[in-house]
Amino acid sequence: MPVIAVVGAQWGDEGKGRVVDYLASSSGGLAKPAEMVIRYQGGDNAGHTVVNQFGEFKLHLVPSGIFNESTKCIIGTGCVVNPETLITEMDALDEAGLSLDNLFISSRAHLILPYHRQLDGLEETARGAKAIGTTKRGIGPTYADKAARWGLRVGDLLNPERTRDRLAAVLPRKNQTIAHFDAEPVKLHSLTTSCTRWAERLRPHIVDVLPLVRAAVEADRSVLLEGQLGVMRDLDWGVYPYVTSSNPLASFGPVGAGLPMQALTDVVGVVKAYVTAVGAGPLPTETTDETGERLREVGREYGATTGRPRRCGWLDAVALDYANWLNGFTRLAITKLDVLDSMPELKICTGYRLASGEVVTQMPDPATLEAVEPVYETWPGWDQPTTETRRWDDLPAEAKRFLRRIEELAGAPIRWVSVGPEREAMIDVEA
Ligand code: GDP
Ligand code: IMO
Ligand code: MG
Repeated sequence: MPVIAVVGAQWGDEGKGRVVDYLASSSGGLAKPAEMVIRYQGGDNAGHTVVNQFGEFKLHLVPSGIFNESTKCIIGTGCVVNPETLITEMDALDEAGLSLDNLFISSRAHLILPYHRQLDGLEETARGAKAIGTTKRGIGPTYADKAARWGLRVGDLLNPERTRDRLAAVLPRKNQTIAHFDAEPVKLHSLTTSCTRWAERLRPHIVDVLPLVRAAVEADRSVLLEGQLGVMRDLDWGVYPYVTSSNPLASFGPVGAGLPMQALTDVVGVVKAYVTAVGAGPLPTETTDETGERLREVGREYGATTGRPRRCGWLDAVALDYANWLNGFTRLAITKLDVLDSMPELKICTGYRLASGEVVTQMPDPATLEAVEPVYETWPGWDQPTTETRRWDDLPAEAKRFLRRIEELAGAPIRWVSVGPEREAMIDVEA
């Protein structure tokens, strides 16, 4: 059975949650619901929208397999966990009648504590015009503490004495930094009280996830790795410094999930039929004219976590080719084709014109990317609705040509085409 990484191929919000919900369900081509879905990096900066028979959900940390009772959902070791927002998310799912019995949190994942969130906000303000546009969820400060070995891990919550000792060692340093910003210091007592409350609620879910993951893979069960964000916000390969503080790339999946890399059988690149981004940094194909407006309104392009309007533009095939090289996509899932339904013509960026006039087709460094001009090819639109289409053959000829061109430029085959946010609004090209 497959172990499939589902990865964002662009700047995030490609529809990863939607694709994981589809693949994890019994209608998703795996014959029966996935055994396991693992989030392998990131935190509640993610907003993964799922629309299915249970309603519409914006998942921040809980894996998008939670809708199948039999699917084990793991918040993996590579993740950073804010216990407060996780509990709120769990309460909302519980109220919607979903079972959380199969939700597991890696004891090795790092904790986002209130001072991480506070520092994320203070650092963004201090950056002024050079702000990254983070989600202010404390992601950067938490991964920084992890790397600097000042972090606390989820498993620490189960050992109050250890938590207290760790916090007593860390807080003076944090409060020094907070004082530098003239902000309110953090009190040890109130933090340990919160930790006790979090531990009480999360205790049944906190485990060493490795035996679970290993058992699933050794028994040859289907496992999905659910990526957060996209390649262009990868800490190492994205548009640094306008990136997140973890690695969305598929190759990080086995690290963050706890698998040998040979276990990975497929890498699904999720590609929106145009591009969007939230936050600052270069986005070569961004269009701020009526096309961008139209994509935003028709595609309802507003951040699932912060509600910020997303920056919109045409599909960028240079970035897609880059994403394919870095991830080795075995399949693509194209999303939001329906959003293009009434566009008279469509553009795809096939190269970047540098300041010197030279046109390149390989991703330059982020500083160069700031100044490139996109080179476009133009394709005819189809001016008919695709939302009800469920078979490849029934798509308009112009849509099929547009999709085949994407496939060619990306260098990977399309397996799925999504034509609506609902679970069933999916075309399986091979069906
Ligand atoms: P993620 O972060 O990659 O999971 O993506 P988001 O949930 O942040 O953003 C994707 C948005 O597009 C959500 O509002 C989805 O409900 C919606 N969506 C996903 N696929 C489709 C599609 O094929 N058509 C339309 N119209 N909307 C879609
Ligand atoms: P999903 O998983 C889109 C962006 C922020 C900012 C940068 C760094 O739903 O695709 P961070 O808070 O991570 O330090 O912010 O990354 N960002 C996202 N953009 N979708 C997300 O998640 C994002 N998570 C972070 O806007 O530019
Ligand atoms: Mg999102």
